[in-house]
Amino acid sequence: MHLFRNIETMEGKTQTQLFATRLGVIAATVGSAVGLGNIWRFPYEAGVHGGGAFLLIYLFFIIVLGIPVLTAEFAIGRSTHRSVFGAFETLKPGTGWRWIGIIGVVASIMILSFYSVVAGWTLEYCYQTSFGELLQSEGAVFHNLFASFTEGWRPIVWTVIFLLINLIVIIRGVQKGVEKASNVITPILFILILIFCINSLTLDGAQEGLYFLFHPDFSMITPSVVIGAMGQAFFSLSLGLGCMLTYASYFKDSTPLIRSASITAMLDLLAAIMAGILIFPAVFTYGFSPEAGPALVFEVLPAIFSQIPGGFWLAPLFFFMLFLASLSSTISMSEITVAWLIKEKGWNRTGACALTIGIATVLGILCAMSFSYMAGMKTPWGAEFNIFNIFDYCSSNILLPFGGMLISFFAGWLVDRRYFMKTLLTPQSSLNIFAPYIIFILKYFAPFLIFVIFLANL
Ligand code: PHE
Repeated sequence: MHLFRNIETMEGKTQTQLFATRLGVIAATVGSAVGLGNIWRFPYEAGVHGGGAFLLIYLFFIIVLGIPVLTAEFAIGRSTHRSVFGAFETLKPGTGWRWIGIIGVVASIMILSFYSVVAGWTLEYCYQTSFGELLQSEGAVFHNLFASFTEGWRPIVWTVIFLLINLIVIIRGVQKGVEKASNVITPILFILILIFCINSLTLDGAQEGLYFLFHPDFSMITPSVVIGAMGQAFFSLSLGLGCMLTYASYFKDSTPLIRSASITAMLDLLAAIMAGILIFPAVFTYGFSPEAGPALVFEVLPAIFSQIPGGFWLAPLFFFMLFLASLSSTISMSEITVAWLIKEKGWNRTGACALTIGIATVLGILCAMSFSYMAGMKTPWGAEFNIFNIFDYCSSNILLPFGGMLISFFAGWLVDRRYFMKTLLTPQSSLNIFAPYIIFILKYFAPFLIFVIFLANL
């Protein structure tokens, strides 16, 4: 099946490639959205922020902000067929809105750096569950195993290996291959998670785990929970940094936008909730703390795999699939900076990829060292200085919502309403009735809501 089809530009040059099928569109956007954000970050954030209360607010943000902002990115990308800088320039020439692209470049490099560390952990766990003795341990030991692993030099090596794999893929431009592969990877990942979910539901701590995940304790809702849930919604949908906008520039003009945005958001949400059902029953059964932070999933998953029948086979497969799912996400992140260097700065592809990954490698090594050689570092005024956490927090909780705020303001107030409406409508689609609501939310609600949440946090 062909995911892409070349189109001719008006000057007769073949430049842009388009996704040829609707399945290709969904595979690419879901490939970017579903990744460590769902399986690693969602459970750890929900664990730290009180479970049910976090899930409820996250759900609210996915539906009320996520789908509209995703639709806006799709509309801006598809109607211009340009990169994040060029798209805003095309719609409002000479107004400076193109500088939204800078948020995209900075945020994507920060995310690429710490995300690659976690992707490196999945590689170590894939290796350890295949050839090591990881699964012969039991229960709480996994906590110490993870700590001693991250305190050493191995995470640094895996981070570099992961980024090199990413580099090879993006230099050779075999993204198309990877996107074809995500047609296969994503369903397998879903099936594996489903199997593990069913297993988790049979554990002794199932009731306690599900109560933690689904019972909102409203007294837990603080500004920091709200900002965490909003950040998670943006992170998980790859929103606010022009990533989905760039992918939408490869959409055909007939691609239904509201439908694609809704399917992507729903699958992404489903993956996160399933990850929660998989993790929390085991957290309570095997005596872990839900507040373990970034370590959570890497302590709990091995405990599950060591107990489940066939775990010896399924564990390496799971970590390998997780690695591939991370790769389809990091490819989409890298593309933002690479496309900028090529299209705006006139670089060639190899140079652009090398520079992007070079910077991410230096920063990624620093992120990996946050748990070992740089652990416990303090700023001169005594605050914790953990680059991994700083990148994670600043990108997801500040830069992405800030980008989302500007994008929704732009779509709501600056794009001609009739033009925007026409972009959203798909002939004979029953989802067309949502178009006015989406425009309403982008205009009157989304930018102000994000702004107020920022203020409340100051
Ligand atoms: N959405 C991806 C995930 O959940 C992470 C991501 C963020 C990808 C930003 C691209 C851009 O894993």
